[in-house]
Amino acid sequence: MLMWPTMLASNLIDLYDVVHHAGGRPILVVEQLTLALGRHGLLLGPSGSGKTTLLHLLAGLLAPQQGNLSVLGHDLRAMGDAGRDRWRARHVGIIFQQLHLIAAVSIADNLRLARRLAGKGPDDEAVLQLLTRVGLADRANALPTDLSQGERQRVAVARALVNQPSILLADEPTSALDDGNCQTVIDLLVEQAELSGATLLVATHDRRLMSRLPVLLELARPMERVA
Ligand SMILES: Nc1ncnc2c1ncn2[C@@H]1O[C@H](COP(=O)(O)OP(=O)(O)OP(=O)(O)O)[C@@H](O)[C@H]1O
Ligand SMILES: [Mg+2]
Repeated sequence: MLMWPTMLASNLIDLYDVVHHAGGRPILVVEQLTLALGRHGLLLGPSGSGKTTLLHLLAGLLAPQQGNLSVLGHDLRAMGDAGRDRWRARHVGIIFQQLHLIAAVSIADNLRLARRLAGKGPDDEAVLQLLTRVGLADRANALPTDLSQGERQRVAVARALVNQPSILLADEPTSALDDGNCQTVIDLLVEQAELSGATLLVATHDRRLMSRLPVLLELARPMERVA
């Protein structure tokens, strides 16, 4: 039987010999990195080791330069900018370190806009359901500025999931938090990823998270690798 490559892919992420340059120097070097579908991962590495760069590559926000970069069986190097945008809208949810909520509209509208930007039709039931899941249904009409930082972070989690992604990427979601809140946020991410059927990849230098996710992926700074 003939199968499409996506159906054969048991790995969510497959990277080989990936190098990314900026400012005339390598800022990310990955010989090999794999993450199986459904196995949540922690991407650890010191500041400057390229964690955010790697998340942006996986999300299709950066154009790959060198190496093999396959996510869900899709070759990201074979896609143009528009192709990567479409691919991200279909498959990726991302929670940035700076949450990037739109301050001028309500939190429900932040979720509605995320659907619209992904080319999806309105679905107020899905929006309300997600806000309920993160405990913010009664604040649906509040502006992001009227919420606490923890509440805003929960909105960002809900927004990242509103397009039912296969991959949920989170950049440093806990490094500014005390131990109690750190636990709450990682529990929320795992719980919500699982409810959505998404695989979670958290980039951090917060070693408190080491025991919280089953797969540990480590990046070294490119300079340290050469030395
Ligand atoms: N557009 C760019 N031009 C030049 N250098 C860049 C660019 N983007 C990132 N860098 C550099 O690449 C390196 C890796 O950056 P990146 O943000 O991916 O690291 P990180 O592991 O996420 O660090 P942190 O833990 O501090 O968030 C850094 O030294 C950064 O200064
Ligand atoms: Mg970073």
